[in-house]
Amino acid sequence: MAETPDTASQLARGEERGKRVERLWARSMTAIMLAIVGLVVFISAHWGWHPPSQLETIDPTSLHQGGEFSEGNLGTLIAPDGSAVVRVVAQQYAFVPSCVLVPAGVPVTMRVASADVVHGFLIGGTNVNAMVVPGYVTTVRTSFRESGEHLMPCHEFCSVGHQGMWARVRVVDAAKFPSADAKVKGVSCAG
Ligand code: CUA
Repeated sequence: MAETPDTASQLARGEERGKRVERLWARSMTAIMLAIVGLVVFISAHWGWHPPSQLETIDPTSLHQGGEFSEGNLGTLIAPDGSAVVRVVAQQYAFVPSCVLVPAGVPVTMRVASADVVHGFLIGGTNVNAMVVPGYVTTVRTSFRESGEHLMPCHEFCSVGHQGMWARVRVVDAAKFPSADAKVKGVSCAG
């Protein structure tokens, strides 16, 4: 069938409308992407939010043989400035210590290393959530306002025992902690 002038102008109008919708779509998508990028830049610059650092490397095969993550060093230590440093080893299929004791109301730095494969941890009811990659020290800074207990499960599938890999985080009054000059190494609430 030959095109009449009528169908030709209908086609032209349809094409014009199609282009308009496409331009609108492209502009909206660009605006949304710019807004998201802007938000990321704003949050990281203004609120100081960054991904947990995984810049420090460590040999996962010799964690237990000495150094920062040797057995006696694990758990919580109060630094001279009153803040707490928690050292935890993640391994198939447990966290050591299995009960992490932290003081309420002071800055807490968690330092976690894996002795074998990739693990992860999150602390229920907080925004603490990080991966633990063998060969790196995962450092997370946080603080706990109130006393109480939180669950800390492993959230990266780490083989058959994964679902049984979790620890508790018990938040207690900072006064109950041995002070920095007591010279104790790590404390925990593991039995
Ligand atoms: Cu460790 Cu899953």
